[in-house]
Amino acid sequence: MKVLILGGKGLLGGALAKAFLGHNVIVWDRAELDIADETSARKKIPELRPELIINCAAWNDVDGAEDHPDQAERLNGTAVGSLAAIARELGVTIIHYSTDYVFDGTNREGYDEDASPNPINAYGRSKALGERLLREAIDEFYLIRTSRLYGPRPESPAAKISFVLRIAELARLKREVSSVDEESGAFTYVKDLAEATRRLVRDSAPYGIYHLTSSGQATWYQCAKEIVSSLGLATVVRPVPRSAYPVRRVIPPYTLLRSTKVPHLRDWKIALRDFLTTNPI
Ligand SMILES: NC(=O)c1ccc[n+]([C@@H]2O[C@H](COP(=O)([O-])OP(=O)(O)OC[C@H]3O[C@@H](n4cnc5c(N)ncnc54)[C@H](OP(=O)(O)O)[C@@H]3O)[C@@H](O)[C@H]2O)c1
Repeated sequence: MKVLILGGKGLLGGALAKAFLGHNVIVWDRAELDIADETSARKKIPELRPELIINCAAWNDVDGAEDHPDQAERLNGTAVGSLAAIARELGVTIIHYSTDYVFDGTNREGYDEDASPNPINAYGRSKALGERLLREAIDEFYLIRTSRLYGPRPESPAAKISFVLRIAELARLKREVSSVDEESGAFTYVKDLAEATRRLVRDSAPYGIYHLTSSGQATWYQCAKEIVSSLGLATVVRPVPRSAYPVRRVIPPYTLLRSTKVPHLRDWKIALRDFLTTNPI
């Protein structure tokens, strides 16, 4: 199968290229196709004739989205609708990723796949727009919501460095690091997410929305402590309130994505240890 991965040099794109090994994988990043350029997309994608389109390209600067909501909506919203329309015209499936930030995070019980989005920041609004336009444009989609991704350093030098990698690097250099002990979420290893994505395709799972995150939740501080312990370092990790690291966005406090269709990915601590002990940092 000819698989086109867009935004393919980012964190998740790199893991997907590995997970889909054995298929004819074509990796395009911004240099090959700016997904916000609909004219180019309408020309280049049909020329390639992919049999599956996976979109990982996104505006991922969550704070920056507050200052540039139009650009975030263009990339995370309008462009997704265009890609979905192209997939429909080609008669192929599209896979797209969204986020726990489409929810307001007030429900401590978590959110099922069919819960209604109610974003409270600009990034969340842009991703919720992408979800809506995708669903309006095509039926043959997998819309996968996930959270707090980490994995090896992405190939794209401009791609966002994950919290896990940042803390792992800092903890090697410093005697003490501090981290926010608020905002519980599921830290998710991109390798696990990419393999689960491939399973959906392999098993011809019903189209629709899926929640794919690690099992279990942690605050940033709890995750930082686990990173230091997994690396066998003596670095002291200090819990601090969010006010110690103010951010521009409003952050949903509890964003558990409940999965009612497929099993959750493995426990977050096991996945984290696997990543930290098998990847050079
Ligand atoms: N990272 C997380 O914690 C997280 C959490 C929940 C959901 N998600 C979702 O998961 C998906 C993958 O995220 P990720 O962390 O892998 O992102 P990433 O590492 O930032 O990768 C995104 C890739 O897309 C490229 N890109 C940006 N703008 C583009 C454009 N206009 N046209 C084509 N390519 C463009 C980027 O290139 P440049 O580097 O040159 O910009 C980068 O290579 C996204 O939909 C994201 O919203 C991520």
